[in-house]
Amino acid sequence: MVDVILGLQWGDEGKGKIVDYFAPGYDMVARFQGGPNAGHTLYVEGKKMVLHQIPSGIFHQDKINLIGNGVVLDPVTLYKECEAVAAHGIDVKKNLFISERTNLIIPSHRALDRASEQSKGDSKIGSTLKGIGPAYMDKTGRNALRVGDLLNKNFTTNYIKLRMKHQRLLDGFHFIEDIHAHEEEFFESLEFLRTLNIVNGEYFINKKLKEGKTVLAEGAQGSMLDIDFGTFPFVTSSNTISAGVCTGLGIAPNKIREVIGVTKAYCTRVGSGPFPTELENEEGEKMRTTGQEFGATTGRPRRCGWIDLVALHYACMINGVTQLVMTKADVLDAFETLKACDGYKINGKEVNEIPFQMDKIDIKPLLKEFAGWHTDTTKIKIAKDLPSKMNEYVAFINKFIGAPVKYISNGPGRDQIVTL
Ligand code: GDP
Ligand code: IMO
Ligand code: MG
Repeated sequence: MVDVILGLQWGDEGKGKIVDYFAPGYDMVARFQGGPNAGHTLYVEGKKMVLHQIPSGIFHQDKINLIGNGVVLDPVTLYKECEAVAAHGIDVKKNLFISERTNLIIPSHRALDRASEQSKGDSKIGSTLKGIGPAYMDKTGRNALRVGDLLNKNFTTNYIKLRMKHQRLLDGFHFIEDIHAHEEEFFESLEFLRTLNIVNGEYFINKKLKEGKTVLAEGAQGSMLDIDFGTFPFVTSSNTISAGVCTGLGIAPNKIREVIGVTKAYCTRVGSGPFPTELENEEGEKMRTTGQEFGATTGRPRRCGWIDLVALHYACMINGVTQLVMTKADVLDAFETLKACDGYKINGKEVNEIPFQMDKIDIKPLLKEFAGWHTDTTKIKIAKDLPSKMNEYVAFINKFIGAPVKYISNGPGRDQIVTL
C-alpha cells in the first residue's frame, strides 16, 4: 500500500524531517510533484542536508527512491545533489530511480520564470525562480522534453526547437539573458542523468506494490499552494494534494492507505499572497528567530503567524488526512500566550470556510487564546512528559479538524519526535 506525507499549509512544514523519520518503515520513498522549488531539510549524523529533487528517503541505505512522472526535474540541481548525497556514502546509482515520463526543466525555463515575475511588478507571485511554472506550462502545453527523450537521437534538435520558442517568449517580455551561458553545465548534467536508473515509473511502482512492497509518497510545497485549491494565483503550478499522488506516480486511488498531514504548530509562508493570521510585529519576529524561519531553497525570511485552523480544516478535507504530525511545537516554548484562528470575519460576517480569491477581500482572523506551556520541550521523548497546556492546545486542534495529531515534533533532529 501507499502512505502519503504532505504539507497542509504553505510549505516548509518539516516534511523532509518527517519523511526521513518514517522512511525505515517502508521499501520505497517517492516524490510525486514539484521540483527544485522544494527544500526539504533533514539531519544525517548531525549534519544538515537540504534536498530539492531527491526524495528524503535517500539516506537510508536499503531504500528505493523514485522521482515520479509528476515531478519537474532540473538536471543541474539533481547532479549537484547526487554529488552531495554520494559524499555521505550513498550510491545513487543503486538507490535512485527516475521515471522516463518526468518533465525536464531546461535553462530557458528559469529565464522565463524570472521574466514573468519581473513583468508582474508588485503583483509578482514570489516564485522561487527555479523555472517551475514555465516547465509545467510546457507539460500542459504539450511541448515539454521528458527524461525518456534523452535516449532519443533527436534530443538536441528538439531541445534547440524548444529553446528557440522560449527565446521568442523572452523577446516578448523584453527580457535579456544569455541562455547559452548555462548550456554547458546543463548538457554535462544530462550526461550524468543518462547514467542513472531511468525506468517506466508506473510499471516500476505497481510491480513493487504487487510484490507486497510499501511506498511512502512525499509531497512538496503545501495544500494552500495547490494549483487548484490554494490561494490562487499565489500558488505553485502542481497539485500538491493527495490526489496528485495518483497522477504523479501512476498508482490507483485505492492503493492509498494513510494520508499523513504535516502542519507547524504555528504558520509560515514565503513569497506573496494572502496569509490571514500573519503577525507583522515582534511576535512574528520571535517566531522567525526562534524557528529559524528562513527559506531552505531561497534563504528568504518566511512570513510568520498563528496557526490557521480554517485553512487546516480545508486542507484536511481535500486531502482526506487520516492523521497529523505537528512540527516545531518547541518554537512555541517561549511564548506566554498562544493563539489559533478558528474563524474569519469577512464583511462583518463570521465565516469558517475558505473563500474564493482570498487575496481580493479583507479577512480578519478570529483568534482563540491559549495559555502557553512555557517549558523547554526539546528533550521530551514520551507523551506523558508533554506539558498539559500543550495537550490542551492539541486537543482543541484535534476537535476542530476532526483528525488526530499523532506525532509532535519537538526539534529538528531525527530523534526529536513524540508519539501520542
Ligand atoms: P519542508 O520543506 O517541509 O521539508 O521543511 P523545510 O526543511 O523547508 O523547513 C523546516 C525547517 O524546520 C527545517 O530547518 C527543519 O530542520 C526544521 N524543523 C523541522 N521540524 C522541526 C521541529 O520540530 N522543531 C524545530 N525547531 N525545527 C524543526
Ligand atoms: P517545500 O517543498 C514554501 C512558493 C514560492 C511562491 C510560490 C510559487 O520546501 O515546502 P514556484 O517556484 O513554485 O513557482 O513558487 O510557491 N513555494 C514554496 N514555499 N515551500 C516550498 O516547498 C515552496 N515551493 C514553492 O515561495 O510563493
Ligand atoms: Mg522547504
